[in-house]
Parts: sequence; structure tokens; C-alpha cells
Amino acid sequence: MDWDKRAEGLADQVTQPDSRWFAPVACVPRHQLVPRWWDRDGSGGWVLRDGASDPETWADAAYADRSLVTRVGGLHADHAKTGDRPEGLPTSSATLPSLVVRMLGHGRLGDGLAFLDLGTGAGGLTAYASHRFGAENVTSLDVDAYLTGVAGERLAGMGHHPRFVTADATEHVPGSYDRIVSTVGLPAGPGLRPVLAALEPGGRIATTLGRTSLIITGWKHLGGDVVGRVERDTAGFMLTRSGDDYPPALAELFALAESAEGDERGTGRYPVVDVANAWELRSMLEVTTPGVELRYQVSGRTRTAYLVHADGSWARAVAEWTDPPEVHQGGPRRLWTVLERIRNRLNAEGALPLLGADVRITPDGVCHLSRGEVECVHGRAVAAARRTLPPVPPFVRRACQASIAILDHAAERCGMCLTTYAACRVTVCALSLHRRPVALTASTAANYP
Ligand SMILES: C[S@@+](CC[C@H](N)C(=O)[O-])C[C@H]1O[C@@H](n2cnc3c(N)ncnc32)[C@H](O)[C@@H]1O
Repeated sequence: MDWDKRAEGLADQVTQPDSRWFAPVACVPRHQLVPRWWDRDGSGGWVLRDGASDPETWADAAYADRSLVTRVGGLHADHAKTGDRPEGLPTSSATLPSLVVRMLGHGRLGDGLAFLDLGTGAGGLTAYASHRFGAENVTSLDVDAYLTGVAGERLAGMGHHPRFVTADATEHVPGSYDRIVSTVGLPAGPGLRPVLAALEPGGRIATTLGRTSLIITGWKHLGGDVVGRVERDTAGFMLTRSGDDYPPALAELFALAESAEGDERGTGRYPVVDVANAWELRSMLEVTTPGVELRYQVSGRTRTAYLVHADGSWARAVAEWTDPPEVHQGGPRRLWTVLERIRNRLNAEGALPLLGADVRITPDGVCHLSRGEVECVHGRAVAAARRTLPPVPPFVRRACQASIAILDHAAERCGMCLTTYAACRVTVCALSLHRRPVALTASTAANYP
């Protein structure tokens, strides 16, 4: 394949004229990293593409600024037979070059600095970094031994010999590094510990947090905290996995959400939204209510959104186009209501307090995000405790001090101002349409903590 001109065109497209990443993008034969990949077939399934048997499509795909999915569920395209139709989520890919370049920019790599590329995938980022700074400074890590092995061979074919490591980064990260760039969404909390531990004091990390589009960058201080910010830039990377594939989604709960009447039925205030693709909303949902899984369907003019959580909570919102949706909810938490509070806030303030927030990540992996008066703690283990607590009777709720959140459970804590239900003094009548704070009467006050 005559790839040089195409690679140069790609470099022109994804870098600025003075960018030091122009040459790496222009010099890496990206098609060699992605000889086979998976494409959408138009009905939501996956279809195999084989570069060797269709060189024109191969060249177009490899030198376009697009991500190429290389592995779906447990099946890598390199191992697939014609006609294979894998099901499941993408488990590896070649990230679109413009995003690779952006992440490298956030990482602020430099000459002689030990660099960890977390999430080898197809090896594109490893190749660019090796080309720019010399492979002797580059380590590329992936949970998947096939990926690290084959990327090693393909980069060797280009003359680059970085170190490849196979490890689950949420368990163990061998070595220590001055710079870490992750192209997999790392989990806040204990799963982040090994990565933080592998960062040298004075070192810098750039990563997204799982289920959010927030790019977090920060410098590691001598005390072990990483201090930085949420960049005013976004990216969506796949979640980490610890095995060959992701564990099965909450299939039973999704099945329940499809048809159950629920404990609460009502009319929602805002239209049904595809939360997964509403990145700021999705990020805020994850930061305030970690672990919600989503599905979204469109059939003619009918839109349906499902939200489920491992604690047994589920919600279904159905509407014709942008009409107010009919909402069914069940389980210990009201997930659609949680989402509506965030949307209230978005409408009232015009933005959510995430992009540009200050970040402090403690060595235990807990992320403290703050902007102005608002602080949000992400990655602290609270979900298990919550599950065992009975819900507070629904007609009296509490608002947090800053009226950001309505608290329904004795253990619930506002993710932003950290007031707990027990500590809060402001009560809200849940029957009131406008949720105006009302004074507790002596008799109701006696009943609730
Ligand atoms: C989006 S791909 C990386 C793309 C790659 N950087 C590129 O330039 O093409 C994310 C990768 O993260 C890897 N990954 C997922 N979970 C992981 C974990 N727990 N530890 C290390 N790598 C993981 C996946 O196997 C996948 O290859």
C-alpha cells in the first residue's frame, strides 16, 4: 500500500502545523496495526473487515481520523472467521489519532522521561510516543496478552522496541513512571491505587475516569496526592476489564425495567435522553451516583431510556419524541429522579460544575472534585452500606444545605456539598410538585431522624 501520502494527510488533519506530533503521525504506517477490524453492519451487529482482501477500504479506514474496533466481547478480529458475528461490547480498539494526539498533549511527555502508555490496544499511541521520544523510554501495558504480544511484533516491524507488559492495571502496575497516559477509563477508588502508586513524585498523569468523559490531569505531590484539574476537553474510553470480557450486564434488572410497573410511577419533567451520549450529564450521573448502567432505544417516534444499578434500582422512561415521559421506577433508589435533579441543575445554572474543576486524588484512589463552593467525592465505597438501609418513608425528604440534591435515605449524602440526610435540617415534602422546602411538624419530626 502506498501509505505515506495518506499518513501525511492524516497528520495534517489531526495536528497543528507546529505540533511535535505531526512527524509521528505522518511516519507511522497505521494500517499495519489494524489489519482486521470490526465494523457496524447497519442493524447494530458487528461485521468483520479484512484489510488484505479489500486494500482500498483498509487504507481509507486506517488513515481516516476514526477509531477502529478490533475486539468485540472475547473475539479479536485477527482471530475471527468470515461470517463470525460477535456480540457484546468493544473490548479493544485503535483509538482515533486526533484523540491519541490530544491525550499525549495532556500527558506532557518529555525527552528522557519514563512513560507508561496504559491501554496498548492496537499500539498506535505506543508507536507515536516511541517515534517521538525513543522506545527505550516507553512502556506499553494492556490486560490482554495477545494485544501486547502482537503490538510488540508490529512495532518491531517498524523498528521500535518499547517494553510491553501484560497486567491488569487495577490490580498491579509494574515499574514507576514520570508520565502516565491512559486510554482506558480508570475506576475511581481502589482500582486507581496501583496506577497512582506507579507514578513518580513530580510525575504527571492524564486519564479519563470510567463511565465519564472527564479527562483528569494532575501532578503527583511528595505526600502522594495527585493534584490537577478536569480538563475543558472530553473523551470517551472503554471501561477497564479484569478478564477476557466484561462481566454480563445487569441483564435481569434490564429485563425487569423493560416491563415492570415499579414502586413509583409518574410523569417526568424532561424529555427522554440518550444519557450515554449526553456526555456531561453522563459524567455527573457517574460522579454523584456511581455504577448506573444505561440502555436507550428508539422505535419510530417512541424513545425509551433504561437506567439500572447493581443495588437493585431501576428506571424506565418512555415518551413520544420530546413529550414528558411516563416514568416507572423500582428498587432502593429512584434513578430517573436522580437524573432529573442533575438536569434541573443544568437548566438552572446553564452548566454542570465538572469541566475546569480542581482535582485532588488521594493515594487510595478517591477523587475530590471541586469548583467554587461545590465539592464532589468520587470513588469512596458507600454503595454497599446503602443497600442494607431501608428507604425513608417517601413523603418527607431532605434537601442538602445547598439545595443541590434531595436525600431519600438515612445514609444518603449529597455528592456535591456532602451533607448527609441525618445531618440536614431542611426538609422537603415529596408530595409537593415544586418540592418546596417545608417545615417539619413536631409529629413528623419525631418520626424521622
Ligand atoms: C481504547 S483501547 C486503547 C487504544 C490504544 N491506546 C491505541 O492507541 O489504539 C483500551 C485498551 O485498554 C485495555 N484494558 C482494559 N482493561 C484494562 C486493565 N484492567 N488493565 C490494562 N489494560 C486494560 C483494553 O484491553 C484495550 O486494549
